[in-house]
Amino acid sequence: MNRKVSVIGSGNVGATTARSIADKELADVVLLDILEGVPQGKGLDLLEACPIEGSDARVLGTNDYADTAGSAVVVITAGLARKPGMSRDDLLQKNAGIIKAVTTEVVTHSPDCIIIPVTNPLDAMCQVVYRESGFPRERVVGMAGVLDSARMRTFIAEALSVSVENTHAFVLGGHGDTMVPLPRYSTVAGIPITELLDTATIDAIVTRTANGGAEIVKLLGSGSAYYAPGSAVVQMVEAILKDKKKILPCAVFLQGEYGIRDLFVGVPVKLGAGGAEQIIEIRLEADEQAALDRSAASVKELVSALGL
Ligand code: NAI
Ligand code: 2OP
Repeated sequence: MNRKVSVIGSGNVGATTARSIADKELADVVLLDILEGVPQGKGLDLLEACPIEGSDARVLGTNDYADTAGSAVVVITAGLARKPGMSRDDLLQKNAGIIKAVTTEVVTHSPDCIIIPVTNPLDAMCQVVYRESGFPRERVVGMAGVLDSARMRTFIAEALSVSVENTHAFVLGGHGDTMVPLPRYSTVAGIPITELLDTATIDAIVTRTANGGAEIVKLLGSGSAYYAPGSAVVQMVEAILKDKKKILPCAVFLQGEYGIRDLFVGVPVKLGAGGAEQIIEIRLEADEQAALDRSAASVKELVSALGL
């Protein structure tokens, strides 16, 4: 194929993302990790799935950034998981170091790419990528809102016993427990869920959405979600590669939109060949804006701890 997507980090999210891109034949895929053998092994395994899937995508696993050269999109999933004895701040600093080094290599080999950061803490890592890359803000688009909205859609569909295809959900803010699910803008077949569900049910959906990542972590015992995160990344990759102009909630660098400046926060954006081509501002009630401000403040805390 004549398009390449590189996925940095061949762990659970990276490998799941690579598989879906190859299955959908969206692009050739390069899977890169610091671990020797692992990306090569997973890459070959994925390549050998292609004849069965009917995909002519080429998949390559590597430790060498030269193989990523000329990527249209680069997805960054590289990072460490929090280990016993490691504080949240230790993890923040360690992952920031990893993301900084990864970004330098990515930009050297694919100066025109669009970067989709995934590594947590997501919004702060986007800020690291943005500063380190020197890219215009359109070309650094973090993945979180698509995942959080998909979780909310799942819970809405369950509560109303309707097809997930009829559901639409908007979750704004940082990717953490301060995220802001917006019931007023969440709909089933165009009808706001505030017309369809009682307040207690909506509150339960909002709380479950905000704790969606933790719910999976608790069930898994070790590690975190990767199937839905992989699907979320690939929806973004597809929107970019096919220039779909799709409105999706993504983490973007705000410069006054929603009253927030110089910070990555999740808001609806139009995703196309140029990346985040437009930030869509929706009117918020005072309590919704206050919740978004609180969420932005918690992102700001992390970014300040990184001295950015
Ligand atoms: P994982 O531990 O399975 O994979 C991480 C991979 O990164 C490992 O293979 C590791 O060797 C690699 N890595 C570490 N340092 C590297 C470096 N310098 N260069 C290249 N590769 C390097 O973790 P998983 O489950 O794939 O998650 C990845 C990240 O994505 C985590 O930070 C996780 O919290 C985050 N995440 C974010 C989501 C979101 O909504 N934004 C959703 C799900 C996960
Ligand atoms: C999630 O929401 C861990 O951020 C990851 O599943």
